[in-house]
Amino acid sequence: MFDLTGRVAVVTGGTGALGAAFARGLAQAGAHVAILARRAEPLAALTAELRGAGAHALGLQADVLDKSQLRAAAEQILAHFGHVDILVNAAGGNQPQATVTPDERTFFDLPEEALTFVFNLNWLGSLLAAQIFGRYMAAQGSGAIINLSSMAAFRPLTRVVAYASAKAALNNFTQWLAVYMAREHSPNIRVNAIAPGFFLGEQNRFLLIDAERGTLTERGAQIIAHTPMARFGTPDDLIGTLIWLASDASRFVTGIVVPVDGGFSAYSGV
Ligand SMILES: NC(=O)c1ccc[n+]([C@@H]2O[C@H](COP(=O)([O-])OP(=O)(O)OC[C@H]3O[C@@H](n4cnc5c(N)ncnc54)[C@H](O)[C@@H]3O)[C@@H](O)[C@H]2O)c1
Repeated sequence: MFDLTGRVAVVTGGTGALGAAFARGLAQAGAHVAILARRAEPLAALTAELRGAGAHALGLQADVLDKSQLRAAAEQILAHFGHVDILVNAAGGNQPQATVTPDERTFFDLPEEALTFVFNLNWLGSLLAAQIFGRYMAAQGSGAIINLSSMAAFRPLTRVVAYASAKAALNNFTQWLAVYMAREHSPNIRVNAIAPGFFLGEQNRFLLIDAERGTLTERGAQIIAHTPMARFGTPDDLIGTLIWLASDASRFVTGIVVPVDGGFSAYSGV
């Protein structure tokens, strides 16, 4: 039921903290994995690692905000593997310039370019990839799309205004596309999202860890205090949910957002 042998999975942001773990997890479940990333070096290293472990892996450079690059990648994946069954939209993240700070950057000062950048990366980047790869799924009548949401989507986290708005839009888009695919194309095309709790990645490290002191920032400590399991997640904590959503094990599940958060979203703090 959870076996992905022979399925072809595409992972955008495939060399990121979570994306790389997803690529490894999908390969271990038997999938052929196409890793999409912007930077050549980490891409080549991860592709070689997966191949070394016996997986069928293909590394392709693509920016998720450039439809022509996504289209070119899709054509190469189709030529190489013959089909696409799973899309994991793991490209995303925040950036410091779009984050309110206590002293120098209030909400009123946030530059429009930074806000647009973060919104586009998290919302439009997943939508464009779903357009490109979803078309093949529609033609074959099967597929699974998995978006990466966030705790910020349910109730916005302080300071990260564009990121929170974009992830909320991504939840809405996940439901929208689930309905569209099931009704207009095939009930065997499912669209879901995972909302990770707090995992240390390059995009949020500066908010959670004080690099100079090597301690948690006030925000990092607050997160731990509000996570009943009292730790940050590790990327491997997400793999079970990913494989469930990608495989036939979740064949009647579409349009949902699954929190994987150590209890963060269940806890009132009291
Ligand atoms: N780490 C967390 O705690 C956490 C929590 C909730 C949600 N998420 C979400 O999970 C996803 C993965 O996060 P992560 O922790 O692996 O972040 P990460 O920064 O480690 O990885 C993101 C990857 O996306 C790539 N990327 C950025 N812009 C891109 C573009 N335009 N085109 C293609 N690739 C691009 C980056 O180069 C990077 O490799 C993101 O959507 C993030 O918002 C992460």
